[in-house]
Amino acid sequence: PRTYVVTGSASGIGAATAALLRERGERVIGVDLRGADVEADLSTKEGRIAAAAAASDLAGGVVDAVIACAGISAPVPKTISVNFFGVTEFVEALLPALRASDAPRAAVVSSMASLQPNSAEMVEAALAGDEARALEIAQGFVGDDPMTGYIVYPSSKRALARWVRRESITEAWAGAGIPLNAVAPGTVVTPMTAELLATPEGAAMVDSQVPMPLNHHQPPESIANLLIWLTSVENTHMAGQVIYDDGGADATLRGDDI
Ligand code: NAI
Repeated sequence: PRTYVVTGSASGIGAATAALLRERGERVIGVDLRGADVEADLSTKEGRIAAAAAASDLAGGVVDAVIACAGISAPVPKTISVNFFGVTEFVEALLPALRASDAPRAAVVSSMASLQPNSAEMVEAALAGDEARALEIAQGFVGDDPMTGYIVYPSSKRALARWVRRESITEAWAGAGIPLNAVAPGTVVTPMTAELLATPEGAAMVDSQVPMPLNHHQPPESIANLLIWLTSVENTHMAGQVIYDDGGADATLRGDDI
């Protein structure tokens, strides 16, 4: 079996991914705040480094694939820390263990929300690796109004998508034979969206922003299966892609503008 490190393994897309991998006989080391093999807080640098070290130890120093699903959508500054730095610094810390594999792979979860209005300044600060500055910019948007704070989420996912394009072709990733890609889901039915989708008003609001002409809201398995293919031995040449697996939301919103 291959050894997979899956973040956000206690819920939603991460839990579905871990379950499908285990069903296939693969070995999964789950990482989450609670209810995982490695319990850690990916919102802090210390948490990320400790989590990567613990996962690597459990894997005996050889990790065949990392799948980073952990994320939050709250209109708070922490969202940039978890969704961007909690992914990028965590997967980078696992590079030595990935390089020890015969067929290393990595995949992360962005979102179709990366196409929504976002803060270019916050995105640039994140891509520059300046977490303190990114948090400061996020704090400026949050204030007292949850609607203005929402911009942190699309900004975090935009930054992550651009990081994947940029990093995937470097010596550290492509140069080391490691495909790195992102999946951008539409509206997935998980605990993250449950509350919003539970009321007709909430669901209508989500659907107006994320139109999904194909098959409507998606189960977490629809994303899990793609993450599993991206990190399988079969993926030999796909790198730097942000794959919109979103019921046609991206095609609806961007049309020919790609
Ligand atoms: P979820 O809320 O069901 O699961 C997220 C998991 O991440 C939870 O188990 C949570 O404990 C963990 N997590 C959160 N903060 C953490 C931290 N600081 N340290 C460690 N673990 C932490 O959410 P879901 O829907 O499964 O989301 C997974 C990913 O998919 C997220 O990155 C999310 O932004 C993304 N996504 C979700 C969509 C949806 O409609 N549900 C749409 C597009 C993207």
